[in-house]
Amino acid sequence: MDNPESTVDGPESRVIVPPTPPGGQGGTRLGTVDCGLGTVDGGLGTRRRPVCLGPVDKVPLGQGFCFVVAGEEIAVFRQRDGRLFAVQNRCPHRQGPLAEGVIGGGKLICPLHAHAFDLSTGAGPNAAERLRTYAVRDSGGRIELAP
Ligand code: FES
Repeated sequence: MDNPESTVDGPESRVIVPPTPPGGQGGTRLGTVDCGLGTVDGGLGTRRRPVCLGPVDKVPLGQGFCFVVAGEEIAVFRQRDGRLFAVQNRCPHRQGPLAEGVIGGGKLICPLHAHAFDLSTGAGPNAAERLRTYAVRDSGGRIELAP
């Protein structure tokens, strides 16, 4: 991969692909996000500072965008009222790409089999299908994922 960070944009997937360091997988540095708030290494459970994911308009109004942060796919949604939500990107039913789902009224519909999830709580159609949620906010026009 020639670019330090490349983006795959298309109808199938919109995932930021982190650079592969020379010589291999890169361990915990794979998926590191750094945009001025400090570099965060390791899993999301170990980070101490907010992670900046870039400008808010990177996520179009009424749509989702998948970010890879510390190796985890996180779907960030921006409702038409401007509210941001962040949940795991893979659907617990059959791993559907939730960032490509339809949102509205605080709900997310999976693009594969139309299971509905609450964007605030992660609650799904049954107890076994619950999404991991992440605290996210608009910080001066930038998406900030809270620790
Ligand atoms: S994969 Fe999401 S509802 Fe089936």
